[in-house]
Amino acid sequence: MSEIPLSSEETPRIREMIIDDFPEVFHIGEEVFTVEYSRSLYRTWDEFEITTLFNSDTELCLVAEVGERIVGFALGTTVKKHNSPWKYGYLVWLGVRQNIQKGRVGSRLFNEIRRRMLEQGVRMIIIDTSADNQAAINFFQKQGFGDVQEHLYMSLNLTRKSRKKTVKKS
Ligand SMILES: CC(C)(COP(=O)(O)OP(=O)(O)OC[C@H]1O[C@@H](n2cnc3c(N)ncnc32)[C@H](O)[C@@H]1OP(=O)(O)O)[C@@H](O)C(=O)NCCC(=O)NCCS
Repeated sequence: MSEIPLSSEETPRIREMIIDDFPEVFHIGEEVFTVEYSRSLYRTWDEFEITTLFNSDTELCLVAEVGERIVGFALGTTVKKHNSPWKYGYLVWLGVRQNIQKGRVGSRLFNEIRRRMLEQGVRMIIIDTSADNQAAINFFQKQGFGDVQEHLYMSLNLTRKSRKKTVKKS
């Protein structure tokens, strides 16, 4: 899809998400978090992602709006680890409509969620994304993220017959 840069009059307004925004946020998510986005089932975009985060952390559920249209969203939460005095912010989902990506909407959403997390006492923000999502990796590096840690996913297909060799006793 072609990129449509936002003009200065179209600077998106970042505000807290409300219930009426759910369908539009859901559809933007469907557009950007495709099967290729998360081949492992660990991250699956569905309506419960929106409602669960909205119930737990309304202040960290943001949308970017141009006119009457939602063009992107950021959904986050905070995490307190056992035995750690630090409060962590977890930016769970960040999505911008494909046709206006690279128009600074993601950066604006991130700046606002970061400001809100800081206000809530967060000392470190964490994100996760697939290792081949170069756009997101560049994006987060641009926001100052580093200390990349790799994570491994494995799967076992239970519908396939076991290939274990049986050793015959002589
Ligand atoms: C990642 C995402 C949210 C970025 O939003 P955006 O509005 O397009 O980003 P911005 O315009 O604010 O970009 C800021 C910087 O990020 C980097 N970046 C953004 N999109 C990029 C792309 N497609 N390729 C390479 N770098 C990219 C660039 O460094 C860019 O700065 P520059 O324009 O000066 O080079 C958006 O691409 C998206 O929705 N992707 C699909 C969903 C996703 O992967 N979400 C992240 C994990 S939850």
